[in-house]
Amino acid sequence: MVDKAKFIWLDGEFISWDEATVHIMTHSLHYGLGVFEGIRAYHCQDGRTAIFRLKEHVRRLFDSGHVMQMEIPFSRTQIEQVCCDILRRNGQKSAYLRPLVFVGDGVMGLHPQDNPIRVAIISWVWGAYLGDEGLARGIRAKISSFSRHHVNVMMTKAKTTANYVNSILAKREATSLGYDEALMLDTDGYVAEASGENIFIVSDGVLRTPPITAVLSGITRASIITLAQDLGIAVREDIFSRDELYLADEAFLTGTAAEVTPIREVDARIIGAGKPGPITQKLQAAFFDVVKGKDPKYQQWLTYI
Ligand SMILES: Cc1ncc(COP(=O)(O)O)c(C=O)c1O
Repeated sequence: MVDKAKFIWLDGEFISWDEATVHIMTHSLHYGLGVFEGIRAYHCQDGRTAIFRLKEHVRRLFDSGHVMQMEIPFSRTQIEQVCCDILRRNGQKSAYLRPLVFVGDGVMGLHPQDNPIRVAIISWVWGAYLGDEGLARGIRAKISSFSRHHVNVMMTKAKTTANYVNSILAKREATSLGYDEALMLDTDGYVAEASGENIFIVSDGVLRTPPITAVLSGITRASIITLAQDLGIAVREDIFSRDELYLADEAFLTGTAAEVTPIREVDARIIGAGKPGPITQKLQAAFFDVVKGKDPKYQQWLTYI
């Protein structure tokens, strides 16, 4: 259960958590059109709170709206400001922020051109998405029987609510079989991403991740690529197959919720030494240093509130 915070921001106003409800005729509930973001704020070593890559997340929210032809009735600056304000109002030192843009009630059917575009921003405290043990020791993942969306079916550059039905099906399948997370192949059969994370492997010292053709252009993914390059690790964005994943020396997932989570097993095959490998550990440590404000080099990624 999510612990209630004091306030939720809805359509321009802060209202109490319990008041933040919508009508059953809300269009997005029926047909699934909505766009959203997931952003994390961290309690930094100096006692301040910083939102990680706020501008990039808000930019992606607006890009998602653009792809889905949803005109967000606020500016990027206003949304950024609310993300900072809500943490202050809710007294949260660290939290997960969820901007959500959805279609309100009005007409029904598949052409809701005049229905209002509504915007909510919610913040709640959320620990390690794949568990503390998963973060420390690595998770067990399963290749899903569900493919990731073809780019001409659901455009994957947009973080669209309806895209996540596919993720929920995959995640349910994997967890019901005793695994922690689902890995999804693209429609050509190459490794794409996990249900809510991007994937990296390490093979012969080279860090590899699928290109963003059929996957979400992850902000954590981009950050890890930069950190790796700055640490002198060779990075290649290219396709790889499931057997290349089985044979990798290391593998890990990246995402705002999952942060940098090592993978220790895929489909009952141990990955590398079956524990977080040296490059994974190095990048995970670098990532947590950055988000907690310990690394002066990447201060521009932090918005202190
Ligand atoms: C399908 C999917 N891929 C990748 C990611 C990772 O993206 P980010 O690092 O921007 O959170 C997410 C999470 O937002 C996701 O839902």
